[in-house]
Amino acid sequence: MSARPDTETREDEIRRSAGGRLTAPDLLRRKRGEPIVMLTAYTARMAEILDPHCDALLVGDSLAQVIYGLPSTLPVSLEMMATHGAAVVRGSRRALVVIDMPFRSYEEGPEQAFRSASWLLRETGAGAVKIEGGAAFAETVAFLKARGIPVMGHVGLTPQSVHTLGGYKAQGRSNEDFSQILQDALALEKAGAFAIVVEAVVEALGRSITESVECPTIGIGASPACDGQILVVDDMLGMTKRVARFVKRYEDLAGRIDAAVAAYSASVRSRAFPEHGNLY
Ligand code: KIV
Repeated sequence: MSARPDTETREDEIRRSAGGRLTAPDLLRRKRGEPIVMLTAYTARMAEILDPHCDALLVGDSLAQVIYGLPSTLPVSLEMMATHGAAVVRGSRRALVVIDMPFRSYEEGPEQAFRSASWLLRETGAGAVKIEGGAAFAETVAFLKARGIPVMGHVGLTPQSVHTLGGYKAQGRSNEDFSQILQDALALEKAGAFAIVVEAVVEALGRSITESVECPTIGIGASPACDGQILVVDDMLGMTKRVARFVKRYEDLAGRIDAAVAAYSASVRSRAFPEHGNLY
C-alpha cells in the first residue's frame, strides 16, 4: 500500500523520500503550470497540518495581528519572525518555507537586507524570504539572489506601507497606479524574484501582471489567473473577527472552539468532568 498523501505527485514523493523539500526553483518552474497552493503558518503544529496540502508556507508578518493582537505589521521584529519561522520549519517536511522580512529590516539597502535575510535563514532553516515593495527594491532582490538568497516579491497592497497608502484598500484603480504596480512587478521579475505576491488589486491588474512576468504570481485578492493563491490561514479557517472581501471562509473554527469550550465549562461546573477514564 502506498503511503503517498492524496495531494502528493510521484515527483513530490521521490523528493520527500530523498528527504527534500520544494525549493524556490521548483516554484519558479510552476509558471503557467499546476497552481501553487500557499497559506500562512506561524506555529509548528499548524505547519504540520498544512504541509501535505501546500506547496509553500509563508511565515507572514501578519502574525502581528493574528498572533500578537498588534494593530499593524510595523512593530514586528526579526527575532519574532525567526522564532515563528523556526517553528514552521520544524513542523513541515515538504513545503517551501518563506519568511517575511519585517519592517525596518531591509529598507536601508542591499547590505542591511543581506544581513537580516541571511540571519533569518540561518536561524530557521527556511528556504526563502519575502520583501514588500516594487522597483525601489529591485537592486536588493538582485543583491540577495546573487548571494544565494531566493526572494519572493510583494506588490499591490503592501501592509508595511499602510501610512503612505492611506489605509488597507485595493490598489491599481487609477491608470497611473495600475501602470506603476505593473512596472514594479516587472522590475522585481527582472531582478530575479522567484515569485511575486500580488495583494488586493483590481482583477485586470492581477491578470495583466501574471501575463507579463515570467515568474509565478501568487494572488491574494488579485485574480484567478494568478499562478497560485495565498490566504492568511486564520482568516480562511474562521478564526479572525473581520476579514477582507478577498477572503473565503472554509471553516468556522472560532464558532467550533466556542461550542467546545462551552461544553467543557458546563461539564467542569457540573462535575461531569473528569470522568472515570480520565483518572489514574
Ligand atoms: O504577512 C502576510 O501574511 C502576507 C500575506 C497576506 C501575503 O504578506
